[in-house]
Amino acid sequence: MENVFKLSRRLFVKSAFALATLVAAEMMKPVPARAACIPTPRETAGPFYPLKLPLDKDNDLTFVNRPSQKALGEVILIQGRVRDESCQPVAGASVEIWQACTTGKYNHPGDNNSAALDPHFQYWGKATTNAKGEYGFKTVKPGSYPVHWFWTRPPHIHFTVRSRSHLPLTTQMYFFGDPLNAKDRLFRKHSPTEQAQCTVLFRTVDHLPVGQFDLTLRKT
Ligand SMILES: [Fe+2]
Repeated sequence: MENVFKLSRRLFVKSAFALATLVAAEMMKPVPARAACIPTPRETAGPFYPLKLPLDKDNDLTFVNRPSQKALGEVILIQGRVRDESCQPVAGASVEIWQACTTGKYNHPGDNNSAALDPHFQYWGKATTNAKGEYGFKTVKPGSYPVHWFWTRPPHIHFTVRSRSHLPLTTQMYFFGDPLNAKDRLFRKHSPTEQAQCTVLFRTVDHLPVGQFDLTLRKT
């Protein structure tokens, strides 16, 4: 009987020791890092931010005032979330976009590209994020355009995001799979990770290409 007691006691001590070791090992593990969002890489606004904003200032750039007169080109939808570095949604942020029309022409007097302007394209638009930090735009895919004879800019859309408690962010969104991306001087300045952050893959949903472009702001 005594032997059985001794054995049980030994097993108990052993088990307790093993448990204590396990607990200690768990406690030594690093605390999981708080989910983090990497700030979106910045780019300059470029030379073609509109000097004059259109009368139509909404988030549908596919027509100007008259829905029956549509802009030329492939209609696309862009949706996304604006977040801070802790991945918390930023509500009430203003998201501005400006871009070339389908021919690659900006509505700006400084644009010397001989391509035609599209009178029915809005060229600039604005959205405000909802409580979940979400925004959306309906626009057309911009054309590429020449900067010099040896440099053609790939299709891209300029973004500026502003929020009260964050630093303003100006960046550019690129289209996944465009062969001009890899040759573009501005795009190539970014690391592969940054390039991936600014490149959007469009998927067809209800007959329309839809792309998700999430933006991360830095706190002031
Ligand atoms: Fe541009």
